[in-house]
Amino acid sequence: MEVEGTPLNDFNTSREDGNLDTLQQSGSTPLKILRTYSRWSPMEEGVTLAWNDLSVYANVKEKSSKSYKRIITEVTGAIRSGSLVALMGASGSGKSTLMAALAYRSAGGVLVEGDILINGRPVGDYMRHISGFMHQEDIFIGSLTVWEHMSIMARMKLDRRINDRERRFKICDILKQLGLSQCMNTRIGVNGDSKVLSGGEKKRLAFATELLTDPPLLFCDEPTTGLDAYSAQKIVTMMNMMSAAGKTILCTIHQPSSEIFAMFSQVILLADGKIAFMGSTANAVQFFDKLGCRCPNNYNPADFFIRTLAVSPGFEDSSRQTIKTICNQFTVSDYAKEVDVVVQYEFHMGRASEHSSFIVRTNFKDIFFWTKLYWLTYRSFIDILRNPAVQSLRILQKIAIAIMVGLCYLGTDALTQNGIQSVQGTLFLLVTENTFTPMYSVLAAFPEDLPLFLREYRSGLYPAGLFYISKNLAMVIAVIIINIYVYKTLVRPRVGSNHQPFG
Ligand SMILES: Nc1ncnc2c1ncn2[C@@H]1O[C@H](COP(=O)(O)OP(=O)(O)O)[C@@H](O)[C@H]1O
Ligand SMILES: [Mg+2]
Repeated sequence: MEVEGTPLNDFNTSREDGNLDTLQQSGSTPLKILRTYSRWSPMEEGVTLAWNDLSVYANVKEKSSKSYKRIITEVTGAIRSGSLVALMGASGSGKSTLMAALAYRSAGGVLVEGDILINGRPVGDYMRHISGFMHQEDIFIGSLTVWEHMSIMARMKLDRRINDRERRFKICDILKQLGLSQCMNTRIGVNGDSKVLSGGEKKRLAFATELLTDPPLLFCDEPTTGLDAYSAQKIVTMMNMMSAAGKTILCTIHQPSSEIFAMFSQVILLADGKIAFMGSTANAVQFFDKLGCRCPNNYNPADFFIRTLAVSPGFEDSSRQTIKTICNQFTVSDYAKEVDVVVQYEFHMGRASEHSSFIVRTNFKDIFFWTKLYWLTYRSFIDILRNPAVQSLRILQKIAIAIMVGLCYLGTDALTQNGIQSVQGTLFLLVTENTFTPMYSVLAAFPEDLPLFLREYRSGLYPAGLFYISKNLAMVIAVIIINIYVYKTLVRPRVGSNHQPFG
């Protein structure tokens, strides 16, 4: 059985001709996607994502009891390979939650119910290999430079057979396309005083990181928020080109300009956890028009949809009623039937497929365990060394204690009974200082890294144990270097311990 091309052509045909022209002019060749269904190969054939009756619940604690709050309510939909889809809705409508569920990256305590299919097959752990996820909030190691961040990520994510030259070329190419070449050697910085990269540059860097592996399925949570109009357009144009080359891209977006909005082939409008519309952007305007919500001329349709579907403070009941009516109307509309046909088709083809193998990456060699360990340790070590505030404080603290201990036992003679007791006292103080202080400081170290760790762990970058070992290795190396340096230079010359094997 071999099915070529797309059986339901009208579902996804609204890509603007103008955009295709731009793509051809810019040298990229739009590919015709051929799905065969006789085998399962999302890396080569692209990804069609379908979901049916999907509900998402979050675990909430009410006083002493636990309960589940429904955030997404029985949504059904599909995104075909080669489409760039905008997921829109008012803030709090559940966009990020739905996207995380579809990407198989829901946070702990979140329950996902329903079916999600990748080319007809149930979603699973393999999602981390075939999809990229750009989060709404960026988390980076602020002390690294853009180039260091990209090289470490490339070393951790790419095929181990790729050589240095190819890796550099790939990074340079991505950074150039995203306009980050001029800040290659700039530190990323952390939010707050030491913020270095601008918000927009950080967003683009997060996008660049996801592009490294060139995944066929890409989820982007608000990639243009905080960007100026030009940079936002640049990112969406890039996504448009990628989708024209066969990638499937789902992207939440706020306040897109009319120009940017026109680049999306499909739009999903979410209101209060339900789908208010799904289909082409032109059909969305028509659908709202039929319901009596006419988008005024010269008004950005995206803004109009969000305004119509928002829950206005003070008018909650009437807003909810409007949303309910729109969602119900959509459920019985032809647009919903079109989506349903695609979803049923995917289910059917998945069931009919004879192949049961789930080989995701056929020609991929994962990097070795110890290479990952080396780069993770290197990254943590650089972070420790470059964290000037923490390091200066630590060194100052060590110097103060070293001087105090040194002065207390100044000039003791290690060969007399009193001297031996003094040296014993010094040893005791040094041991307690060097065991308890690092022990307490470690309590703060892991919670600090937890958000980054959870994100990278969920995206399959490394196993939990590896992160733990690398962090420990880096800290041990840093602590040893600082301690040896400070105590050797300050305490040892003061205390008469030249004959003792310590310091
Ligand atoms: N883990 C959670 N626990 C409780 N409520 C949550 C959780 N995650 C999301 N929510 C709630 O679900 C709603 C949708 O959140 P979200 O998906 O982040 O919205 P959006 O991305 O559309 O702004 C919000 O009202 C939010 O407070
Ligand atoms: Mg969000």
